[in-house]
Amino acid sequence: MPDTHTPTAPTASRVRLGSNAGQPMTRRDGVAKVTGSATYAADNRPSDLLHAVFASAGIARGRVSHMDVDAAKSHPGVVKVLTPQNCPSLEIDPDAKPHAFSWRIEVLQNDSVRYAGQPIALVVAETLEAATEGARLLSPTYEEQPVRIGFDGDAPYDPPAIGIGSAPSFTKGDIDAGHASAEYSTETSIETPIQYHNAMETHAIVAEWNGDRLTLDTPNQAIVMARGMFAGYFGLPPENVTLRSPYLGGGFGSKAVPIGPQLLAILAARMLKRPVKLALRRDQMFGPVLHRGATRQTLKLGTDADGRLTALEHHSTGVTSSFDEFIEPAANASHNLYASPAIVTRHKAVRADIGTPGPMRAPGEASGSAALEIAMDIAAEAAGLDPLEFRLRNYAETDPASGKPFSSKALRECYAAAAKQFSWASRPRAPGQMRDDVGRLVGWGMGSCLFPNPMFPAQARAVLRRDGTALVETAGADMGQGAWTALAQIAADGVGLPADRIEFRSGTSDLPDGGIAGGSGHTASAGGALYAAGSDVIAKLAGLATNDPASPLFGAGNVGVAARNGRLFRADDETRSERYEDILARAGLDEIEGAGSGGRDPANAEARAMFSHGAVFAEVTIDPDLYQIRVSRLVGAFAAGRIINPKLAKSQLTGGMIWGVGFALHEEGLHDTRTGRPMNADLAGYHVPVNADVPSVEALIIDEEDPYVNPLGIKGVGEIGITGTVGAIANAVWHATGARIKSFPIHIDALLR
Ligand code: MOS
Repeated sequence: MPDTHTPTAPTASRVRLGSNAGQPMTRRDGVAKVTGSATYAADNRPSDLLHAVFASAGIARGRVSHMDVDAAKSHPGVVKVLTPQNCPSLEIDPDAKPHAFSWRIEVLQNDSVRYAGQPIALVVAETLEAATEGARLLSPTYEEQPVRIGFDGDAPYDPPAIGIGSAPSFTKGDIDAGHASAEYSTETSIETPIQYHNAMETHAIVAEWNGDRLTLDTPNQAIVMARGMFAGYFGLPPENVTLRSPYLGGGFGSKAVPIGPQLLAILAARMLKRPVKLALRRDQMFGPVLHRGATRQTLKLGTDADGRLTALEHHSTGVTSSFDEFIEPAANASHNLYASPAIVTRHKAVRADIGTPGPMRAPGEASGSAALEIAMDIAAEAAGLDPLEFRLRNYAETDPASGKPFSSKALRECYAAAAKQFSWASRPRAPGQMRDDVGRLVGWGMGSCLFPNPMFPAQARAVLRRDGTALVETAGADMGQGAWTALAQIAADGVGLPADRIEFRSGTSDLPDGGIAGGSGHTASAGGALYAAGSDVIAKLAGLATNDPASPLFGAGNVGVAARNGRLFRADDETRSERYEDILARAGLDEIEGAGSGGRDPANAEARAMFSHGAVFAEVTIDPDLYQIRVSRLVGAFAAGRIINPKLAKSQLTGGMIWGVGFALHEEGLHDTRTGRPMNADLAGYHVPVNADVPSVEALIIDEEDPYVNPLGIKGVGEIGITGTVGAIANAVWHATGARIKSFPIHIDALLR
C-alpha cells in the first residue's frame, strides 16, 4: 500500500505510515554510546573551565550558624566561595513557583536548612580536587531543630492538589451502598518507601556566558521548556539561552526542571566570567533532585457473590517536604482499570524534613497499582476465584471514572497472550503448593498494567534538499529510551525517504520545541510534529509536480499522490511517478521547507478515554529456610497502539518491568529518624536490580490500532511496564508462602512467621 498523505488530525482514522515505522531498527546512537564518543554534559571541557562543588547540609532542619570560608578560600586553586552572604539573587525568587512545573529550590537565598543534603555553599576552583577539598574545609556548624521524618513526624493534612495539579479526591456512585451490598469485604494496607531516581548519569551542567548569552550543557527531558525556565531565573529572553542535551544517561522524571545546583553553577560562571562545570556526586542525588514520595495506602473492596466489585475505595497518604508540595497521586490508579459502580479515592499529605518529591517513572500509577493489584488479589481469594478470572469479571468495557468509551483497549488480549506464554492455567489456587527441583518455594502472581496517554505541544521542521535528502528536526530528548531512533523513523516516513537519507537533528534548544520527554508521550507528541512537518513538505512538492505539465504527475491533484522512497506516485496509477530531485530541479528550487505540530483532535480527546494497557505474570522462587526471594520469571503483554520500533519498545517495556523488580524487592531510600540524614546514599546501600536479579523477562506486544488517540495512533510505552509488575511480584510471594505483603520493598523478615 502506498503512503497517502492525508491532512492531519482526522477523526477516527490513523495515518498510514511508510516502511521505516514498525521496523526493529538498531539505535542510531548505539555506536557512539558504546565507543564513548557520545558526549554527555559533564564530558564538555571548554577552555578556561572552572570546577564547582557544592557543600551539602549535614542536618535536616535548622540553619547554618558558621562556615570556615577563609579556610576554603585559602586552599590552593580555590577561586570563589559562594554562601548566602555573598550570593547574588536571581530575577525570580527560587522559592516562588513561576511555572506549573516549577519546584521550590535552594540557591543560597538564606542560611536555612530544609533537608539533609541541601546545598549550603558553592566552592569554585581550578580543579575538581581543589573545589572538593575547599567544600570540605568549610566545616559548617548548625543550629539544629528537631526533625520530622516519615508519616508520623507531622499531622496529616488535605493537600489542595496532588501530582501536578490533579484533584486530591474523586467520587463516583454511592460507596456506602456499594459496601453494604457486598458479599465479601476486604481491606488492604500497603506502604511504599521513598525511592530515588538514581539515573546512571548524575545531574551535571557546564555553564558558559558570552555577554548576555548563556550556553548550557546539561541533561534535560524538556529542553525548550527548561530553557525558558533557566532564562527566567536570569532575566533573559529565552532565545538568549541555548540548552544542549544530546544524550542523557537516564532521566526517569528527575531531569525536566532546573535544580538549585545548576543555577549556582550558572551564577558562578557569570560572576567569574569563565565557564563552570558542576556534576553532582552520587550521594548528592539523594535530596536536591526530587524522588518518588513515600505512600501509605488503604484499599477497601466490596465484591458480590459472582466476584464483581460493588465498591472500590482507595486512600493514600503521601509524604512531601516541609516547604513544597508534590503528593504521589497513588490512589488515582483505581480510577480507570476495573469496573465498579462506586469508586472513591482520597489523598492526604504529611510534611517532613526531606527534599521535595516529584514525578518518577509512572508517578502515582507505579505505587498505586502496586497496592491495587494486591488488593485485587486478596479480593479474588475472598471470592474464591483465580486472580485472572477475577480481573476478567471486573473488566472495564468503558472508563470507570468518566464512563467514556476507550479510544482502544486490548487488555483482554494482553491477559490471554501473557497467561498462555506463562502457562498460568496450570497454577494451583492455594498458596504454598509449588516447589522447584531443589525444594525452593515457587509462587505465581499477576497484575494488570495501565498508563494514560498524555500529549505535549510539539513542533518540528523539515527541509527537503535538491539532492533528495532531507533535514528533519525537533528539540526532542533521548534519555536512553531510543527517541533519536524512533523519531527519525517517523521523520523519514513523513518525507517519504529511507531513514538513511534523512539527517535527524534533536537534543538542542535552538530547534523547534519537541515537547516533554515524559508522561510516556514523547514519541506521540514529537513524532506527530515530525510527521506533520514532512507532510507539509510533501504537499508543497506535490503541488509543484501536479501543476507542472512536464511532470508525469501533472493533473493528479484531485486523485492525490503518495510519497515513498524518494518518489511521488500518482495514487490511482503507480506507474506514473517522479523522483524528488527531478521535481525540485525542474522547479529551480534548492530546497522545500515545511513545518508541523503534534497533537490530537480535541473532539476525540473529549469523547474518549485514552490509556495503554497490559498484564504481567510473575514467578518467584524463595529459599524455604532463609526466605531469600528471587524473581525467576516475568512475562508481560502490552497493548499501546502503534509501535514505531518493536525492538526499542520491548527494551522500554522490559526496562519498566525491571523497575518493577526494583520497586518490589530492592529500592528504598532510608532516612535516620533522629538526624533526617539519608542512610544509604550510594548504590551500594540503595539497591537496584542487576542482571542476576532478572534472569528472565519477556515483553510481548499486542497489535492495537487506535484511530482516536492521535493521528499516528501512538500511545506510548515508557512507563507502563512498572505498573502491574510490583503487585504481580507481591502476589507471587503470597502464592509461594501464604504471606501477604504490607510494605515495599519486600524484606525477608516480612516472610518470617
Ligand atoms: Mo516521567 S516521571 O514522565 O519523566
